[in-house]
Amino acid sequence: MTNLVDKYRELKKRGEKITALTAYDYPTARLLDESGIDIILVGDSLGMVVLGYEDTTEVTIEEMLHHTRAAARGVKNALLVGDLPIHTFDTPDQAVATAKMFIEAGAQAVKLEGGVSHVAHIEAITRAGIPFMAHIGMLPQKVREQGGYKVKGKTQLEAEGLIADARAVEKAGAFSVVLEIVVPEIAKQITHAIAIPTIGIGSGEQCDGQILVTHDLIGLFPWFTPKFVSPEAQVGAEIRKAVSAFIERTRGRVALSKPSDD
Ligand code: KIV
Repeated sequence: MTNLVDKYRELKKRGEKITALTAYDYPTARLLDESGIDIILVGDSLGMVVLGYEDTTEVTIEEMLHHTRAAARGVKNALLVGDLPIHTFDTPDQAVATAKMFIEAGAQAVKLEGGVSHVAHIEAITRAGIPFMAHIGMLPQKVREQGGYKVKGKTQLEAEGLIADARAVEKAGAFSVVLEIVVPEIAKQITHAIAIPTIGIGSGEQCDGQILVTHDLIGLFPWFTPKFVSPEAQVGAEIRKAVSAFIERTRGRVALSKPSDD
């Protein structure tokens, strides 16, 4: 494989927008891949939109690997990225060991949440030859500590911290960086400050690419949709319609007379 850092720097230089979505299973990964998406992330959002947890802090490595294997079977062209769940990268050595498990499960790159605080972890992963996607801004694995999904970069201090994070992950060898719910003006400044692509989620239009949780994009988790998402489909409503039609069709059939006992 060509060096992903060079490849993604080149895409950014050419102004080519990068598209990324999540998938956690074979049919979804295959559909996204066949549709021409650039990156498929087996995100730990798995915990919320597939496993029914309250947030991503309960997701285990076994769950992530199980779903990474399934998604990998459906991917031919996209770059498959595995997301290190909480407490599986507490030290640089543990981060490398976990990253290797994702590669064995079929991922071609890994992501973890953290900036300056995780430079040693990122360097260890990239030194091991594993392509790395960074994730800064709102970090869902810290949602409980932070008391919610809050927009990042509102204060000067926070904005400076985010720019320092972006520069640090670039230097540590990341080929791209996810910016999660960052004030759009700060996301734009970060995008101008680094040579690797920024991939925004709820961070405005000025990033080099966009990523979404597929369930949000297609209306497959109708109980909650983040404010920044404009769904392109209502798959949840279609499922309800099909199931109601099936129930009606089945219940409407004339029952056969009960078989006799003799
Ligand atoms: O887990 C996930 O799906 C993610 C994306 C929202 C970036 O980290």
